[in-house]
Amino acid sequence: MTPHLLLPERPTTDPEPLAEYRARGGYTGLREAQQQGAAWLRAEVTQSQLRGRGGASFPTARKWELAAAATAERKFVVGNGGEHEPGSDKDRLLVQRHPHAVLEGLALAGLATGASQGYLYLIEDMHGPRAAAEQALHEAQAAGLLPFPIAIHLGPTTYVAGEETAALNSIEGKPAKPRKKPPFPGEAGLFGMPTTVNNVETLAHVAWIARHGGAAFAAIGTAESKGTLLFTLPDSVQRPGVHELPFGATYRQLIDGCGGGLRGGRTLRAILPAMSSAFLDAAHLDVPIAYETLRPLGTSPGCGGVKLVLDDTDVVAMTLQIAEFFMREQCGQCPPCRMETNQFVHMLKAVQQKKGPGYEDKIPKLAEFSRKKGFCSLIEMAAAPVTSAVKLFAADFAAAAGPAPMES
Ligand SMILES: Cc1cc2nc3c(=O)[nH]c(=O)nc-3n(C[C@H](O)[C@H](O)[C@H](O)COP(=O)(O)O)c2cc1C
Repeated sequence: MTPHLLLPERPTTDPEPLAEYRARGGYTGLREAQQQGAAWLRAEVTQSQLRGRGGASFPTARKWELAAAATAERKFVVGNGGEHEPGSDKDRLLVQRHPHAVLEGLALAGLATGASQGYLYLIEDMHGPRAAAEQALHEAQAAGLLPFPIAIHLGPTTYVAGEETAALNSIEGKPAKPRKKPPFPGEAGLFGMPTTVNNVETLAHVAWIARHGGAAFAAIGTAESKGTLLFTLPDSVQRPGVHELPFGATYRQLIDGCGGGLRGGRTLRAILPAMSSAFLDAAHLDVPIAYETLRPLGTSPGCGGVKLVLDDTDVVAMTLQIAEFFMREQCGQCPPCRMETNQFVHMLKAVQQKKGPGYEDKIPKLAEFSRKKGFCSLIEMAAAPVTSAVKLFAADFAAAAGPAPMES
């Protein structure tokens, strides 16, 4: 049986109202945490081994300990729903369908870290999720369920606005551009105060953990990867959209089981687990999805926005599109990022235009050169998909680049 922790079976896709959420135990975890205290809640989340679902998979309890240990006049908590990665819809769907689970998780994260104000951070084009969150906030506040005020903030519809310190700048009324770190938000975040930023999927898991216990969560998944994960499948499968699977499931189960298989009898060559992950050969379709099993294969589940490489996919064009996305979305404030994200695009265009050999060496060198040169990791995000594509699809790249120019 597939456990559905976040997306329970329902006859409708409408936002889950408060009464329905409470009927399945919603807000009982928050009540328990209010009675047992912040240290109890942090211990449960430590035991759960929950890792953040915003892409970097940082252990949630470790992040909380930092903010909890800080002494300050005020502390804040932010639920990050700023999702704007092409092919990833899980955060917007979660907020739209289960806004109370996200709000309960936000209240819990605030309680665990000593926050006195919370923000649910969405982006401007999220009309449905925003309406659902506003209605849920109104219901929860009217029922006296929330331990501190929570406000909804809308950031701009850009990719980088989802980076945690860009989100904090936006909430402060500044342009949504990342800050230099350290200091990290847990030390000095919103208005200089300790701030915990968690992805909205992470927060919905926190609500489940407070209700069912950290041990129950840790019992789902694999040795190092616990709980379930939301995936978004593309239109090339029969049932595209957001699906929930436990860690330890395989991409074959995801694509064939949840997704109903590929449309039109096509065959699969490779998987891109998320836009900034490395490509995975279809030979690994039966590898259990977990941090510890994908790491040795050079990739990671990321935020689960899966892309598929099919028999008729132009892989050079696909790789170029990914590099172009990161070039377009860089915010312009770090000169190395402005220049290096451009370079990947130039090199891939040169391949397409048969302008020459050498890309096999230049691309990995550029990827290495770009490491840790920006305020955020956007500068590095194209590196994994581009370098892995050049290796995995070496024959396609060589064919696209054409024969080496004749020596004169
Ligand atoms: C360019 C960029 C964009 C990001 N976009 C998002 C996003 O849309 N949503 C999100 O939760 N995290 C995003 N992140 C990661 C956040 O900075 C941060 O790690 C995350 O919100 C922490 O939550 P977690 O610990 O629960 O994963 C982004 C990071 C970068 C570098």
